[in-house]
Amino acid sequence: MACMYPSPSLEPEVLYPYIKKELIKLLEVESSWIANAANAASTLGFLMPKLNWAGFYLYDGSELVLGPFWGRPAVTRISIGKGVCGDSAYARETIVVPDVHQYPGHIACDLLSNSEIVVPILKDDKLIGVLDIDSPEIERFTEVDKIALEEIVSILVQYIDFPIHETK
Ligand code: SME
Repeated sequence: MACMYPSPSLEPEVLYPYIKKELIKLLEVESSWIANAANAASTLGFLMPKLNWAGFYLYDGSELVLGPFWGRPAVTRISIGKGVCGDSAYARETIVVPDVHQYPGHIACDLLSNSEIVVPILKDDKLIGVLDIDSPEIERFTEVDKIALEEIVSILVQYIDFPIHETK
């Protein structure tokens, strides 16, 4: 496997294409969804600047359950409609939180987190889960990050055979 180095530039227009290329190189050679989701979380956490957590919460048919991630241990179960992750899963929309301390119902996992972005993961209109990314910096995530991370999630869904659960 090729060795991954921190990104050559922190500019989003260079960084995100680089991350996508690195992700595809990793994901196209493996079929295990758990191995691929683990490497995807690690790639995002390692290559995106100013993060303290990046990972997946996956829908088990009734709630979100912690999946592969990069960062400190986190809350394991989140109800649909609770916290930023549950709100994003419920609305099926990306939520950008400039300051988590101002977000009603935010679930604090890592006291380092000050801002957050959550992107829902959907396949064939079914909820797979969410990609959750946290930063210690206030207002870390912009519209550019939102668009790029939504594109990355669409790549992940193509390459990762995530388990799909029907709503109970
Ligand atoms: N902050 C999230 C919980 C997950 S941790 O950030 C990893 C939320 O409010 O849903």
